Amino acid sequence: MDALIVKGPAKLNGSVQISGSKNTALPLIFTSLLFDKEIHFNNVPRLWDIETALKILSIMGTESEWKKEEGLLTIFPKVTSKVAPYEWVKRMRASVLALGPLIARFGEAKVSLPGGCAIGARPVNYHIDALRLFGVDVKVEEGYIKAQVRSRLTGAHVIFPEVTVTGTENILIVASQAEGHTRIENAASEPEVIELGEFLKSCGAKIQGLGTQTIEIVGALLKSPKSQIRIPPDRIEAGTWISASMVTRSPLELLGADASVMKSTLDVFKSMGAKFSISEEKILVNPPSRFNSLDVTTEPYPGFPTDMQAQLLTTLCFAEGKSSVRETIFENRFMHVAELRRLGARIKVIKNQAIVEGPVQLTGAPVMATDLRASASLVVAALGSEGKTTISRIYHLDRGYQRLDSKLTALGVKVTRVSE
Ligand code: EPZ
Repeated sequence: MDALIVKGPAKLNGSVQISGSKNTALPLIFTSLLFDKEIHFNNVPRLWDIETALKILSIMGTESEWKKEEGLLTIFPKVTSKVAPYEWVKRMRASVLALGPLIARFGEAKVSLPGGCAIGARPVNYHIDALRLFGVDVKVEEGYIKAQVRSRLTGAHVIFPEVTVTGTENILIVASQAEGHTRIENAASEPEVIELGEFLKSCGAKIQGLGTQTIEIVGALLKSPKSQIRIPPDRIEAGTWISASMVTRSPLELLGADASVMKSTLDVFKSMGAKFSISEEKILVNPPSRFNSLDVTTEPYPGFPTDMQAQLLTTLCFAEGKSSVRETIFENRFMHVAELRRLGARIKVIKNQAIVEGPVQLTGAPVMATDLRASASLVVAALGSEGKTTISRIYHLDRGYQRLDSKLTALGVKVTRVSE
């Protein structure tokens, strides 16, 4: 297992290229299973999660060609098995996205239950309950979700009890192939859901209401896409770099960032005193020398993203006064707090709220990554800490950030990757 050793306090000099969005690429890769012709993607990020998705597709018989340096990916969808096995699904919950395309195209699927992860139990009951409304028999046995269309896939009225991003994505895919009309209420409106919906529409799907809480779909025959699909920039990576800019008080240029899908994130940092100049394909961050404290609650889009919660918490350690962050999406997404405390952070967690006292001078220490965004928050904290921080289990970081250490080195940070 790898670890990162970061020497702080650091300054960031220059600009950083934002890579393609993990949470846009993953649903699009699984949706390729709908088609029988090759599909081309560009700006695909080099992430472990993409490796895992392609491995699962290859187990199902679908080959791919991934030119990692150029970010080019071609998928040759051919399905010889409709099974997504536990040994791979357990590594990445997003594998549940194999369900929708397999059911939509073949009427059947056998996908391992993803199991929980560090941030929560993360059940998929909303996916299963919704699929049953389309005339799909779904059994959960021996750790697998076994789905079989009874006679034909028919449109349904789905009301999600809670906003679910991949739940909405799975149902969008199934509904696009079901006979008749589907309405999804309490749908997710995340940009990644919109990107998937727009892709399906470009293939002939009849979808209205993307980006709102109610999406209407009429089933239609889809044609495989002719043109290459470009993966948009990762809004969470861009937000993570804003945290790094704030903590190191370094002006930073985020090349390729799309401010139009980052309003709530930008607003939070603006209220802390950050200034932004936004142009077509980049965001220039100007951090304040002193930060205001504030109270934030994570919410489904367009609210402040839960995937930015850990990075914001780290930033608030440097703010003047008391701040609070309420996590409303996942039940256990404060694993980074114990590690931040090892660096000297003054944070206490009461139920789903973290209270932060600042400003504190953090000092480097050995810490351990527990999940993807927690590991990013520890890197940000290390940049603002006095001395050396060693962050172990950095594979969590590599799941969702393309070579963050190389990007940091290019910005002048003293960071080395070592194997433990
Ligand atoms: C997606 O996960 C993202 N992953 C997550 O990003 C993100 O944190 C999450 O949405 C929330 O924005 C991808 O898009 C690949 P949910 P997802 O279904 O779809 C509960 C990252 O860091 N729930 O929106 O799995 C669930 O437990 C990752 O890139 C059920 O109870 O999340 C959670 O409390 C982490 N039953 C809430 O709903 C269900 O059937 C929202 O989960 C489904 C969800």
